[in-house]
Amino acid sequence: MISPRPQLNGISMYSPGKPIEELKREKGLTKILKMASNENPFGYSSLVDQAVQKEMTELTRYPETTSPALGVKLANRLDVKPDQLIFGNGSDEIIRLLTRSYINEGDEVVMASVTFPRYKTNVLIEGGEPVEVEMVDGTHDLTSMLREITHKTKLVFVCNPNNPTGTIVKEEQLERFIEQVPPHVLLVIDEAYYEYVDSDEYLETLPLLEKYPNMIILRTFSKIYGLAALRIGYGLMAPEIVQELLKVKDPFNVNRLAAAAASASLDDDEFLHNTILKNQEGRTQLIKGFKEMGLSYFPTQTNFIMVDVGRPADEVFEGLLDKGVIVRPGHLMGYHSMLRVTIGLKEENEVFLDGLKAILHPRVSQSTE
Ligand SMILES: Cc1ncc(COP(=O)(O)O)c(C=O)c1O
Repeated sequence: MISPRPQLNGISMYSPGKPIEELKREKGLTKILKMASNENPFGYSSLVDQAVQKEMTELTRYPETTSPALGVKLANRLDVKPDQLIFGNGSDEIIRLLTRSYINEGDEVVMASVTFPRYKTNVLIEGGEPVEVEMVDGTHDLTSMLREITHKTKLVFVCNPNNPTGTIVKEEQLERFIEQVPPHVLLVIDEAYYEYVDSDEYLETLPLLEKYPNMIILRTFSKIYGLAALRIGYGLMAPEIVQELLKVKDPFNVNRLAAAAASASLDDDEFLHNTILKNQEGRTQLIKGFKEMGLSYFPTQTNFIMVDVGRPADEVFEGLLDKGVIVRPGHLMGYHSMLRVTIGLKEENEVFLDGLKAILHPRVSQSTE
């Protein structure tokens, strides 16, 4: 066998939530609820179908390499300049472009100990050294993260809100952190769940972009916009950094259907607004259920919640699978007694809560049935 690059030793393939089809086969079930990947259970904007249908007539043609029309539209909406924007095949790709463009062998990258796993994987692929900083109550410890920044640090990732814990860092703390990150370090703030946030303690980072040319913001159309399958996300940063990433990106990374769908989505604020409201209702419903069961959870600003089931979460995860409900067991993310559940439709949340109750309190739930 020919050896791959040694940097790949010990890296495993990304482990996604369990696929619906696989669970149906394994358990002989027909109805499965997937509450594992933070997708939008309320769908996507109705404007998308028509836009995608129209673009289908162009399938034989390569797309433009930087989705310029979408860039102008999004830049106007966000009040940035189009040259501060880059689109990726999901924001996953922007993370990879950043590590590909900036990480040399041995460069250090500071991140939280329990956060989106693609940061670490991409750093390792490039031969960089992830420096993982313990979290406090499921939240980034920015003071300790700052302490870990040295002359070897190239990148810092702050996932805000954080996946998988759903927590945010407080406005003043983040602003102070941004001020103190030295200019030789690129600070990446991943805001994949930005649109769901309703806390008034959340820092709006966009207005700070001009002031801090080493700051990068990541967002995506996969989450609240409901376009996960089409793969389109974006980064906002100084034009000079965009130019470097463009050298590394594949020429046609964002396909025509994705760009058309994203563009149509931007015309439908009502869909966004409805999703936010329904997600808040679902969040309240789940939290009420957790409280009734006496379970603790991390305060979330997203469309998912991490709940402590007070025992090895694997067992509960398996029990839920038997009932056709797929969630994410926390052991994959360093929290052995926690599950991460994506907020679903009202009836999905109900099925999940009933299942959880039946597993955790079997006698009580039988007698009330
Ligand atoms: C925090 C965070 N960043 C980035 C991504 C990647 O999203 P996408 O590549 O679909 O835009 C995800 C997806 O789960 C995420 O949770």
